[in-house]
Amino acid sequence: MPAPAWLRRQLSGPQGVLARPMAHLLNRLNGADYQRALKRLDARAGETVLELGFGGGIGVRALLKAGVRVIASEPAVDMRSRAHRRFSRALATGQLEVWPHAAEQLPQRDVDRALSMNTVYFWDDIDTGFANLRRMVTRRVVLGIAHPQHLQEVGFAAHGFRTESIDWYAGRLDSAGFRTRIEPAPSPNSAGLLIGEPHDL
Ligand SMILES: C[S@@+](CC[C@H](N)C(=O)[O-])C[C@H]1O[C@@H](n2cnc3c(N)ncnc32)[C@H](O)[C@@H]1O
Repeated sequence: MPAPAWLRRQLSGPQGVLARPMAHLLNRLNGADYQRALKRLDARAGETVLELGFGGGIGVRALLKAGVRVIASEPAVDMRSRAHRRFSRALATGQLEVWPHAAEQLPQRDVDRALSMNTVYFWDDIDTGFANLRRMVTRRVVLGIAHPQHLQEVGFAAHGFRTESIDWYAGRLDSAGFRTRIEPAPSPNSAGLLIGEPHDL
């Protein structure tokens, strides 16, 4: 059954009075996928990790706990405010930076690894986003991507959001300069993790 338009809008950028419940919902729904993704990301203490489109912040919290330096970039202003409140200590010590950039607008900064879960459907320009990641990431990128069928069922296409397959994203990531592999997910809605390492690593 298609999700209502307000919910699709919130998924593409949680905001307003619904920002808080959306953050809780995302953290709850995507917790298991995050656990798998963080395992594959394999970030070590002292490394720098970019999380792009962090939403409710479940990934940011886990990375900080692991002693990783985190650059958390999120175009949705209410998700950034929430991160400022919840992670004020890490911000004060410099373990965390919060950026406002979308995938297509990332500035240059070398990072060891990057993570982005359930965000690619909302990017305007996949090739620019992947080129930005290639410019920044020295070791590994992990992307969590849902099944196109699931996205179509919930009505993403009607809202102009992407519903491409994980294989399609793998092709684009490879063209951007990453050696890619797909780790299928056990869940019916998630296509799995797309893992990329720079060709020249
Ligand atoms: C469905 S939520 C997923 C949040 C979180 N990563 C998770 O899986 O629970 C999508 C997130 O992508 C962010 N987003 C939307 N467009 C983006 C873009 N062009 N680049 C990066 N993030 C984007 C939204 O603000 C939102 O927080």
